[in-house]
Amino acid sequence: MKVFITKVIPEQGLEVLRTAGVSITQFSEKRELSTEEIIDACIKHDALLSAGKNIIDEAFLEKCGHLKGISLLSVGYDNVDIPAATKHKIPVSNTPGVLSGATSDIALLLMLSVSRKAFYWHSIIGKGEWDFFEPTAGLGVEITGKTLGIFGMGQIGSALARKCKSAYGMKIIYHNRSRNAEAEKELDATYVSWHELLEQSDILSVHANLSSETQGLFNMDAFTKMKPSGIFINTARGAIHNEGHLIEALEKGMIWGAGLDVTNPEPMAKDNPLLDMPTVCVLPHIGSATLETRSVMSVIAARNIVAALQGKQMPQVINP
Ligand code: DGY
Repeated sequence: MKVFITKVIPEQGLEVLRTAGVSITQFSEKRELSTEEIIDACIKHDALLSAGKNIIDEAFLEKCGHLKGISLLSVGYDNVDIPAATKHKIPVSNTPGVLSGATSDIALLLMLSVSRKAFYWHSIIGKGEWDFFEPTAGLGVEITGKTLGIFGMGQIGSALARKCKSAYGMKIIYHNRSRNAEAEKELDATYVSWHELLEQSDILSVHANLSSETQGLFNMDAFTKMKPSGIFINTARGAIHNEGHLIEALEKGMIWGAGLDVTNPEPMAKDNPLLDMPTVCVLPHIGSATLETRSVMSVIAARNIVAALQGKQMPQVINP
């Protein structure tokens, strides 16, 4: 029973694999593997534990049809062609639920950092350009009592709404494919239309999956409808917003600020104009990057591998 792991993962996950007698090959170089390299490695292994955005499509699966399971070290699975995996009878699993706390913390961190221009002030100090206190210079805005719009009220969106309601008394509105009765009851969240979400949100935070429906959805048309004081936050997937349109919307003052943990492409080019804007904060996809969360994710991903190799249903299988 041999598993190929595309990146170094936390020790806790490796321990689960070792205890189950699984032989581990872990790629430890500090670079992304190419698809061809992953295919070459998979040919010699029985299962794949994929950490990162490797594209697993029909062409990949045709060559790796022998795999007993593909376990993703992520909740998102937009990099995998699930119907194709199902066609090849390969179960695919993810790590749902356990990263809602950490990822919603990053969304809140971005909301506060953008609204108080924290990254801008940090860079000003680093450049030696902060000389004295000025009562009216570089003022931010407060999030207390404002309206938080959630696009995609699932576990991560609900976790953010819970924090913002209890700590900042924010009014919660949301737009989803379907109503979330639990969020409406617990958080007094109001379901609104797509247009109402854009028009009424002071801060709009994206927590939806990347799909053909959501790709590029936050474009000029959407930014035009937002408040000029509005803040756009995306911790889900970079391809959900159109980066060129976001730059233009910020430059023209159509919205006030943006906080991104996800970009398109990743990594963002170092000369991207967003990086020089005082009301923009950009992070390198670190939503789940805590010792606690990544450890739990590694254990879940490893348990899914063990189950697949033992011919059992993966606990977090996406395509049962
Ligand atoms: C996830 O779990 O989907 C994170 O975004 C990492 O890819």
